[in-house]
Amino acid sequence: MPLELVQGDIAAETTCALVTAANAQLAGGGGVDGVIHRAAGPRLLAAIRAIGGTPTGSAVITPAFDLSRQGVKHVIHAVGPIWRGGRQQEATLLAGAYRRTLELAIGAGCGSVSFPAISTGVYGYPLEAALDIAIGTIQTYLETHAGLHVRLVLYDRGTLNTAQRVLDRQRKPPPAAAPPDALE
Ligand code: AR6
Repeated sequence: MPLELVQGDIAAETTCALVTAANAQLAGGGGVDGVIHRAAGPRLLAAIRAIGGTPTGSAVITPAFDLSRQGVKHVIHAVGPIWRGGRQQEATLLAGAYRRTLELAIGAGCGSVSFPAISTGVYGYPLEAALDIAIGTIQTYLETHAGLHVRLVLYDRGTLNTAQRVLDRQRKPPPAAAPPDALE
């Protein structure tokens, strides 16, 4: 199943696993994390506090608590990097957060998962570069896990348009190699 790009509020998703953009302390926060915690109820914060923390570039999985009313079974708390100019392994760490989340979703038996654009809010990762990594990492993973349905949920129309542009660019075949000069 292909990657699907959609505009909307991730807390309204009905996939098996919702991904939130967490911090390494697993302390709860604002942005998309605040929205998901409000929808899941206070047991979600208690669950991540019990885990205590996870390194940047990784993720942890918990039950979805009150989100189970809409069919969601798990919340995956993915920790993307804070943008520090691009030379602090940000790209590797962001790709790692997506990959680890996908592994956790598959490990939990999920057939569908919804992501926000991790690190593109208060963590300041430049949007187009972050979406390039998000889409590339997800597409590569789907090459070997074709049954998984992945939705990338972009909050506003402009972000969706940027994601669509990135996806189109990644799908474009590389330019054909110039033919060898037969007479040389
Ligand atoms: N649905 C989908 N996307 C959303 C929603 C929503 N309801 N609300 C915001 N976004 P951010 P980060 C988008 O700041 O940059 C937290 O405090 C938003 O427009 O939530 O990874 C954590 O605890 C942006 O594009 O996450 C961490 O401390 C994207 O979600 C820290 O912020 C991510 O923005 C993580 O920062």
